[in-house]
Formats: sequence, structure tokens, C-alpha cells
Amino acid sequence: MADAPVLTIDGPSGSGKGTVARRVAEILGWRLLDSGALYRILGLAAERAGVSLEDEKGLAELARGLEIGFESRPGEEGVRVSLGGEDVSREIRTESAGDRASRVARWPAVREALLERQRDFAGPPGLVADGRDMGTVVFPGACCKVYLTASAEERARRRHKQLKEKGLNVSIQTLCREIAERDRRDAERSVAPLRPAPDAVVIDSTGVTIDQVVDRVLAVVRERLS
Ligand code: DC
Repeated sequence: MADAPVLTIDGPSGSGKGTVARRVAEILGWRLLDSGALYRILGLAAERAGVSLEDEKGLAELARGLEIGFESRPGEEGVRVSLGGEDVSREIRTESAGDRASRVARWPAVREALLERQRDFAGPPGLVADGRDMGTVVFPGACCKVYLTASAEERARRRHKQLKEKGLNVSIQTLCREIAERDRRDAERSVAPLRPAPDAVVIDSTGVTIDQVVDRVLAVVRERLS
């Protein structure tokens, strides 16, 4: 029996990946992996356990033992994420949680420790995997690969809107600076740096609606599976 199909959606933060991945998974009825959430949870767990973000071995050990839960509830935007049974969905979505995630994600041993956990998400009828290295490292054999991007300014604007809706107030200039810094760290690290897989379809979502991006991603899936 052929393996269940995997659609990878990689790209920088604020490119719209998360929303697009969720909608596409919903439309196709496929499973969803939000791999960034794993690194965010690890960052939170490290903070709670007092493990330094510089302690590669300690972080990898912590990563192997994490008790993580993902749960989709009908009618709710986004997935509920739990750590050791506690709902941490809100806590892992802050800017500082994103920054911590990007720091723990630098370490090869941490990435290795989370590899199988990510691959375990694959299965029938299919998987939409959202992240930075889904098409290059975690699912290199995926049938469908998309790399989603957008200008840094547009991404900062989108992030600002999202945070404002959550009642958090951060200036666009600060966001733009933080996004550029995080992009640089994610793209320059030695393992699994942020870059499109050679066989990925690159979609620039600057000035394009989410619905249009979703349609283009669905077209990629249809074409690659036909
Ligand atoms: O997609 P996100 O913003 O939730 O990701 C948070 C951080 O986690 C991101 O800055 C880099 C890291 N990350 C990664 O290194 N590899 C992934 N597959 C997903 C996220």
C-alpha cells in the first residue's frame, strides 16, 4: 500500500503558513502538524524547568520526555495545545515564546529528538505539515511541497493584526525588527535552515488573500496527486 500523502508547507513566520495549513487540512480532511508549536512548547517547558536555552543536551533530554497534546475542537480557530495535560495554547503564542522557540530550534540534538515525533503524525488519509524544514528534512519524500513567503513588512502587519485581536499591543516597527532577527537566525543556523526544498512550489502571498493562497495550494496538491 502506498504511504499516505504528505503536503509540506514551509516558510518564515507571518507568511500565513499556519492559517493556510489549517484551512487546507480542513478542506482535504487531512491531519495537521504544527511543528512550530513543538518548539514553542519546548521553550516553555525549558523556562519552567529552569533549563538554559544554551544547554543543548538538557534541552534534547527535555524534548524527548515532553508530554504534548494537540486537540481540534469543532468551531474553534486553531488547535488546542497542552503540556503535561495543561492547556498552554495561549502561552505559547506570545512573541517571547516564538523567540524562545527559535533559540531552542538552533540545536541539532533538539531537532533530532523531535524528528520521530513529527514523522509519527503522518498517516491516512494524509497530512499537512507546517514548519520550516518539513519539505527538506522531516518529510523529504513528501509528494506535495509548498514554500510560502511574503515581504517582512507585510508579515509584520499581519502579526500586528493577529496580536491586536488577542488584546496584545506591540508596535509594527518592533515586530518588523523581531521578524527580521528571527528570519536571520532560522535561515543561518547550521542544521535544517529555513529554505525551500528544491522541489517546492514557491508562493509569494504579499498582497494576495488567504483564500487565493489556499486555492493555489490545493491546485498544487491536485496536480501532484494526479
Ligand atoms: O512557526 P512558528 O512561528 O510557530 O515557529 C516558532 C519557531 O520554531 C521558529 O522561529 C523556528 C522554529 N521552528 C523550526 O525551527 N522548525 C520548524 N519546523 C518549525 C519551527
